[in-house]
Amino acid sequence: MSGDMNTWIAELFRDPDLVRMGHAQRVDDLNLGLGWLYYGLARTMRPAVVVVIGSYRGFVPMMLGKALADNGEGGQVHFIDPSYVDDFWKDPAAVNAHFARYGLNNIRHYLMTTQQFVESAAYHELAAPGIVFVDGYHTEEQVRFDYEAFRDRLTADGVTLFHDTRYVKPSRMYGPDRIYTRTVKYFIDKLRQDPALQVLDLPLGDGLALVRRAEASA
Ligand SMILES: C[S@@+](CC[C@H](N)C(=O)[O-])C[C@H]1O[C@@H](n2cnc3c(N)ncnc32)[C@H](O)[C@@H]1O
Repeated sequence: MSGDMNTWIAELFRDPDLVRMGHAQRVDDLNLGLGWLYYGLARTMRPAVVVVIGSYRGFVPMMLGKALADNGEGGQVHFIDPSYVDDFWKDPAAVNAHFARYGLNNIRHYLMTTQQFVESAAYHELAAPGIVFVDGYHTEEQVRFDYEAFRDRLTADGVTLFHDTRYVKPSRMYGPDRIYTRTVKYFIDKLRQDPALQVLDLPLGDGLALVRRAEASA
């Protein structure tokens, strides 16, 4: 790893909120955890367009944004989040400043749900994404919506990643009066039954599944 990358990670990890959320990060050895997979996949695939649905403080959009920046080909991350947890994503200037703090200016935020995004001009104008990362509201119904919103828009070798696939358990993310059960795992179990898909579900951190069209492997 280059010293520059170590410096970048050390700066990132000064914010404790970027070391949380089940991506198996570890501060002691500047370990991005699953972030290495997000970064490495985008460095290897070199997509021009990436979509991220949902993030608490931007760990995933920043891993992918850093990879696209390091690819040096002008790639763009489109980050969809209505800021339902708190006000963090509500002020566009503060959002841009947050990403700029880590040298990133290639992440475009949309303050909306996926349901609203698919009705927007941005959705219709979006070029084919090579990577879609689903990490918004973690019910089976919502991840199905998120997946189907982009499934037929992906590049031929495109990959959809799902976070929080490992545990079916209550989430208190939206406060004590809005506890719900995460059921992403149930959706991944259904995708595994589809012979047209390759599904790799990794029991790392809170779980990460990679899904792609089987036919594209030829
Ligand atoms: C807090 S993240 C989950 C934590 C995540 N594992 C991380 O690393 O940040 C979930 C995010 O999804 C967003 N969200 C909730 N419902 C959504 C929807 N329908 N469409 C898009 N994003 C949504 C919330 O605003 C929240 O910021």
